[in-house]
Amino acid sequence: MANPGGFTVWLTGMLGAGKTTLAEYVAARLRQVGRNVEILDEETLAPVMWKELADTKEDRLTIGRRIGFVADVLTRNDVCTLVAAVSPYKSVREENRRLIGRYVETYVDCPTEKLIQRDSTGKYKKALSGEIPNFIGITEPYEPPNAPEVTVHSDTEPVEEGGRKVFQALLNLGYVTVDELKTITGKRMKAEPMPRRRAGKAPPARGARPRPATRAARIAKPAGKKRR
Ligand SMILES: Nc1ncnc2c1ncn2[C@@H]1O[C@H](COP(=O)(O)OP(=O)(O)OP(=O)(O)O)[C@@H](O)[C@H]1O
Ligand SMILES: [Mg+2]
Repeated sequence: MANPGGFTVWLTGMLGAGKTTLAEYVAARLRQVGRNVEILDEETLAPVMWKELADTKEDRLTIGRRIGFVADVLTRNDVCTLVAAVSPYKSVREENRRLIGRYVETYVDCPTEKLIQRDSTGKYKKALSGEIPNFIGITEPYEPPNAPEVTVHSDTEPVEEGGRKVFQALLNLGYVTVDELKTITGKRMKAEPMPRRRAGKAPPARGARPRPATRAARIAKPAGKKRR
């Protein structure tokens, strides 16, 4: 089977939105068809790739660039690369889009109230009580993408639906073949035209929720000094 080359699916979204779950789901299926796959998950990269960095905006930008560098190297070498990282800032995501080229931004969206309810790691509770300062989405803004290739609503869509949307985008962009997807999904999926991106903007997908420029819970009560 011809290998149509590497790509990066960059899963961005707030803490606990479902990035790792979706990355693992997609990765397992790409491996089924013999693709080389790597997951760059910030949770596993952190101890080796940025343990000297602090929890500031500047250092978060550096973290985004370091992940982007590795994703680019892998993508150039035909690896299907899945990045699972909060990556809260548009500027560095756009830098990585330009650097990597074969880049599929996937916004894993979930309302903050639902994330607080879900709180799979207990970190929202700590952020809301002020125990964790500088928490993205609570006391620090998260900047949602305005033109992602894929948007997944993990509060209403199961991981299978998120996976289907990612595979559809990969097919539309020519990064996977119809035959590969037939093996993965059991269906003959058809490529569809992707919305045209102009200067980082694309028309909102049908049924898309209105999206503010930044997300930070109304509850925001900075604990300690405000950082840049
Ligand atoms: N589509 C989904 N529908 C319902 N629950 C989901 C979905 N995706 C993930 N979850 C649940 O949400 C929780 C967080 O998922 P996951 O660890 O994948 O999020 P994450 O975005 O990687 O979080 P983090 O930012 O902490 O790494 C898990 O309990 C997971 O089972
Ligand atoms: Mg994760």
